[in-house]
Amino acid sequence: MRNVKIKGTGRYVPDNIVTNFDLEKLVDTSDEWISTRTGIKERRISKGENTSDLAFKAAKKALESAEMSAEELDLIIVATVSPDAFTPATACIVQGLLGAKHAAAFDLNAACSGFVYAMQVAREMIKSGTYNNILIIGAEVLSKIIDWKDRNTCVLFGDGAGAIILSSSDEQGIMSIKLGADGSKGHALKCDAVPVNNAFMDQVNQQNKLRFISMEGREVFRFATTVMAEGIENILKDNSIDINEVKYIIPHQANYRIIDFTSKRLKVDISKFYINLQNYGNTSSATIPIALDELNEKGLLEKGDILIFVGFGGGLTHGAALVKW
Ligand code: COA
Repeated sequence: MRNVKIKGTGRYVPDNIVTNFDLEKLVDTSDEWISTRTGIKERRISKGENTSDLAFKAAKKALESAEMSAEELDLIIVATVSPDAFTPATACIVQGLLGAKHAAAFDLNAACSGFVYAMQVAREMIKSGTYNNILIIGAEVLSKIIDWKDRNTCVLFGDGAGAIILSSSDEQGIMSIKLGADGSKGHALKCDAVPVNNAFMDQVNQQNKLRFISMEGREVFRFATTVMAEGIENILKDNSIDINEVKYIIPHQANYRIIDFTSKRLKVDISKFYINLQNYGNTSSATIPIALDELNEKGLLEKGDILIFVGFGGGLTHGAALVKW
């Protein structure tokens, strides 16, 4: 059986920093409320760059880190809930920008768990021998689907992209991935698309819903705290690994309180969790690869380190990955 290893990492976030104090001028909120309820202090918000622009820049950095050319890529997967368009896929736009002329390309939507879902798809394609080198990007410009008048949601999210290259290897890399979903709770985190309207309908659909993210915060909170802890426990148990053998847990960065709750439930020190949500907010599918690239760039990862990536999000979906660096 072929092994699959992370060969390179990259990230890109827009330059524009929006602080909690900036948001106080937009909606009835405060730095104090946002900081204590979420841990977020600031986020990056695009001033015009679209999802493919962010994805392309993160991908370039991942290719440099892997010392690989775009022509060596066999497949590009972009995990996103905020694509540039219905079609072409954001992955196809990135393929064109990179000049990755031997690569197939498609988008995948599993919301904030999208990056871990994409890892599973890519891993299986490499393990089976279909492909050797796959670029995965989690990329979002959530600012275009946020209602900037809704204080319940606008303070939580940000824009950004993170990327990795997965390649076939003789050494063990991705050890295990476990995915899941609960579609019956999909209403808890939503963003509608275009309503049905066509020339054959008896009545024109007048429903002109604004297509913004809406959320039942407490329901998502309950789901998140359950699946984060269970996801970590189950993947460790399946692989007979003790949590003390894990160097870092890289959680989806949505809310400090969710991560804190998880660390207490697992009885592990919060310092095992790599947290950067104070700087970026929730960038959905991009949070885990952005955090991974920061860790890598800071030189905090050594060969053989065991890592866990764990995410949850719209769908509702969840996923955990056990990785040997
Ligand atoms: N500023 C000030 N007050 C706010 C606010 C804001 N930005 N947003 C909400 N409030 C208010 C609410 O209106 C409510 O007021 P009320 O009691 O007068 O009705 C009050 O704060 C408490 O709201 P509540 O929803 O109970 O807060 P909470 O402690 O549950 O925190 C979240 C809200 C959203 C931070 C929390 O539920 C959460 O993090 N949920 C998970 C969200 C998530 O992870 N989403 C992404 C999934 S990928």
